[in-house]
Amino acid sequence: MNDVMILPDLEAIAEEAAGRWLQIAQTAIAERGQFTVALSGGGTPRLLYQKMASPPWGDQIPWAETYIFFGDERRVPPDHPDSNYNMAHEVLLSQVPIPPENVYRMDGQGLAKSAAREYERTLERHFNLGRRELPRLDLILLGMGEDGHTASVFPGTRAVSDLSSMVLAYYVPQLGVERMTLGLSVINSARNVIFLVAGDNKAEALYQVLHGERRPSTYPSQAVDIRDGTLTFLVDQAAAAKLPG
Ligand code: 6PG
Repeated sequence: MNDVMILPDLEAIAEEAAGRWLQIAQTAIAERGQFTVALSGGGTPRLLYQKMASPPWGDQIPWAETYIFFGDERRVPPDHPDSNYNMAHEVLLSQVPIPPENVYRMDGQGLAKSAAREYERTLERHFNLGRRELPRLDLILLGMGEDGHTASVFPGTRAVSDLSSMVLAYYVPQLGVERMTLGLSVINSARNVIFLVAGDNKAEALYQVLHGERRPSTYPSQAVDIRDGTLTFLVDQAAAAKLPG
């Protein structure tokens, strides 16, 4: 069952997400001694990341026990304006006392296939995975595109039908570029997934994802189906405009 919370605006989404991030982090560290989170790219989470770098949130987070992963990355250098790492580093990672070795950047610029394999090895090492085991992140933040894509799982691509690869690097025909992304197997193994969706341009896709016919190949965000954990949509009123009730 999806938990959908409609908030007035992006500021309220970021504030709510910050509180959930802190609560999930404190629980994870109390139970397992570490907190693992995969950051989303795009523009929507920027305000959340700024909040996590500032009082009151930033100074409550145990950064030494926090491990940062990425949901996806574009095929650009880490200092490129389109890089998801670049945005997170600018507004969050460079602003908080997180040990550099706790940040696992996706090598978007590398040879896509080998970089994807390398990120899988990063996950295997960090989570001490046995054969065929999947990592269980404490929190995965996701955005949603106007076409219903999430992370870099795009409609009609092998990323939406591949339910076993932990990390995929592939050519996205809609964009004419290669992308690297966590696979749905990893996303769906998370303890907590939070979608951040804002703006009237997302209203149709959000309606289809939450209330439309089940067509995950057309609306990949529908393929996010958490086996054992929580799935929450934090959406603003503009994005919720077409939701019933
Ligand atoms: C990316 C993201 C992608 C993003 C959506 C929404 O690398 O672009 O991972 O899935 O979350 O496209 O992007 P906006 O937040 O910019 O609308």
